[in-house]
Amino acid sequence: MIELGVNIDHIATVRQARRTVEPDPVWAAVMAELGGADGITVHLREDRRHINDRDVALLRETVRCKLNLEMACVDEIVKIACKTVPNQATLVPERREEITTEGGLEVAGQVEAVQKIVQRLQDCGIVVSLFLDPDLKQIQSGIQTGCNAIEIHTGRYALAKNDHARNIELTRIRDVGKMIMDAGLRLHAGHGLTYHNVLPIAEIPKMQELNIGHSIISRAFMSGLKEAVTEMKRLIRSVADSE
Ligand code: PXP
Repeated sequence: MIELGVNIDHIATVRQARRTVEPDPVWAAVMAELGGADGITVHLREDRRHINDRDVALLRETVRCKLNLEMACVDEIVKIACKTVPNQATLVPERREEITTEGGLEVAGQVEAVQKIVQRLQDCGIVVSLFLDPDLKQIQSGIQTGCNAIEIHTGRYALAKNDHARNIELTRIRDVGKMIMDAGLRLHAGHGLTYHNVLPIAEIPKMQELNIGHSIISRAFMSGLKEAVTEMKRLIRSVADSE
């Protein structure tokens, strides 16, 4: 069974657009769990642009399924992770100017440094996943770090302009997926996955976890909008009805 990790960062993005208290990612996590999510994924960025420290602390107390903390390899966040102890940490690259996590972690050439962080997190009882591009060099280096899982960045697959380009990316993901599996690690994938492109990735043998955010949250806005307007309209109308 493939596990679905629901990334709820975008709920916090909408909250931060007004610097208010809604929508609350803690509430969103409950809704996602009720929908059958196997994991709740949040990225505590250094600039706290969406998810903040309060969210992570409360999610740790309330999430009953797997809590997966996406994080950069920086001391401040490693300390927070070791204090909070999410079930899983996914190490990702982080650049302040990027809109989202645009590429995988650059682990080739810095295996030792990443290895140290992997070890620190594992010593705190956290399962560690690395978010890597489906490139041979990165995957080979990732395996050397002693991590428990590798999440393949599916962004290039998702953005492929045509079937030919998409198939090339899919083959690349399948090939590195086999390497990850043969190394005895958990195989995860994510980024840019939608209701339209997820199936070929889900069909990769031994795929264990998919982390999906933007597409699910976009769908949720749309499927909930009619009901939300109806509720507001009913409320306003109740004044007219009582006059
Ligand atoms: N996996 C990782 C490691 C990510 O950084 C992200 C984006 O935050 C996702 C999965 C989810 O990507 P998307 O929002 O495009 O579904």
